[in-house]
Amino acid sequence: MHRAGETGGMVVTIVGSQLGDEGKGGIVDRWSEAADIVVRYQGGDNAGHTVVSGGTATADGGTATASTETASDVSTEYKLSLVPSGVIRGKTGVLGNGCVVNPETLFAEIERLRERGLDPDVRVAKRAHVIFPYHRELDGIEERTKADSDFDIGTTGKGIGPTYEDRAGRRGIRIGDLLDPDVLRDRLEYVVPQKRALAESVFGVETGDAFDIGRLYGEYRRYGERLADRDMTIDAGAFLTTKRDAGAEILFEGAQGTLLDVDHGNYPFVTSSNPTAGGAAVGSGLGPAVVGDGAVIGVMKAYLSRVGTGPLPTELGGVKGQTPGYGGESADEVGEANGQDGDAADERLATHIREAGGEYGTVTGRPRRVGWLDLPMLRHAARASSFSGLAINHVDTLAGMDTVQVCVRYDIEGETRETVPATTERWAACEPQYEELEGWSDTDWGAVVEKGYEALPAKARAYVEFVSEEVGVPIAAIGVGPDRAQTIVLDDPFDR
Ligand code: GDP
Ligand code: IMO
Ligand code: MG
Repeated sequence: MHRAGETGGMVVTIVGSQLGDEGKGGIVDRWSEAADIVVRYQGGDNAGHTVVSGGTATADGGTATASTETASDVSTEYKLSLVPSGVIRGKTGVLGNGCVVNPETLFAEIERLRERGLDPDVRVAKRAHVIFPYHRELDGIEERTKADSDFDIGTTGKGIGPTYEDRAGRRGIRIGDLLDPDVLRDRLEYVVPQKRALAESVFGVETGDAFDIGRLYGEYRRYGERLADRDMTIDAGAFLTTKRDAGAEILFEGAQGTLLDVDHGNYPFVTSSNPTAGGAAVGSGLGPAVVGDGAVIGVMKAYLSRVGTGPLPTELGGVKGQTPGYGGESADEVGEANGQDGDAADERLATHIREAGGEYGTVTGRPRRVGWLDLPMLRHAARASSFSGLAINHVDTLAGMDTVQVCVRYDIEGETRETVPATTERWAACEPQYEELEGWSDTDWGAVVEKGYEALPAKARAYVEFVSEEVGVPIAAIGVGPDRAQTIVLDDPFDR
């Protein structure tokens, strides 16, 4: 009997454990050194993955940020929305069938990388669905409508939800359809009048050329020609199987995170795809035994961040327009003025973490909401994706605090819970129960990376070991700065 993994290259899956922006891009970049192919299996240009290379520790021992003001001479930063992060290291990037692809973003991103001297090899699954301008418009229209009832999600506005809706509704248009002029025209003629009617008659919005069949046909036909000319389209499952059978090592690059998963996240404040590890099989055409045979690494921050609305039980302070029911101003404005010392202290802490961790959206620039680490959330994520290892990022960001809090369980209506309830309303009602751990000092993180895990401040080690034990998953890596060199690797999943 053929067992997955007996032959062929190894497969490693990188999954967001929390609410996105855990630093997946950096971890993918780190491990794509050993990989041959890096595969996105879900999502689209709602993702914003950062890769920093060449940065060094600054003279004061802090971490060099990727910003051009402080480290332009030493560091190069790439922000990728659609192109898999592995192309930075010259690996083949695949957008699997589970992705939704905006061809405009795809070609613009490839072009920007070319201008920076790279030659990205990107393949796109013919089964992946295409994001059209009407999807983006409908995304905005529905968000504005929902906002009237405080029900908006704070989407990235990239048309992700409407495109996945059309996929499930069997009226979507796939990458393969762009290659055939007759099919493309037929599909547009069927779907566009429906979208126009939806916008105009249901939502009462006037439509423009985003809903014009002639314009869409011309533009998307040209994208089809470009994809064909550059030989970029593939049958992803067949392509990956052939390569893997020949020994290629495959790295799956999850986007978003577990609590944004349409099934396992806090619905409806989620994205419309499956970032959890099961998505890697469905979204690539490699079977679950192949994915499950390899390592599954859950990437997490040492605290929490969230962009968009929806509950966040361990949130510190709030961000106007995103934190439900939050009417406050920024921490500076609140200051001590409201007379609630606890609130003001939380606001200050939130601002400190936000600034120290650079917690502003990669795609939208929105300030991210921040909170203490939530272990019930991580237990839920570890179970949903069968994590074999944890990559814990931003350990440097929390440095300098006397104490740090970790939510170890929830209390809800007199009951104790160790994991996330299945309904969002109950999750929102959960009262986090914290354990206080000692903080650690800022240090020369460059030196820590050079010397390895034992050089990490003892209290930081106690923190990550506590997390690992509570979640029941060993630590694979620890991030102490944004640069690819600022990761301490304890267990390299490709090194077996
Ligand atoms: P992704 O969407 O999961 O790939 O994460 P983002 O790129 O959106 O956000 C992560 C941010 O944190 C980026 O600016 C990274 O460069 C940065 N980052 C990642 N790991 C670390 C870390 O260990 N320490 C610090 N200070 N920054 C990190
Ligand atoms: P990466 O891959 C953080 C959030 C949006 C919104 C919700 C739905 O960089 O971790 P969508 O546009 O997908 O319909 O928005 O999901 N969201 C993300 N938050 N990181 C991301 O990606 C995200 N992609 C979507 O803010 O709350
Ligand atoms: Mg991101």
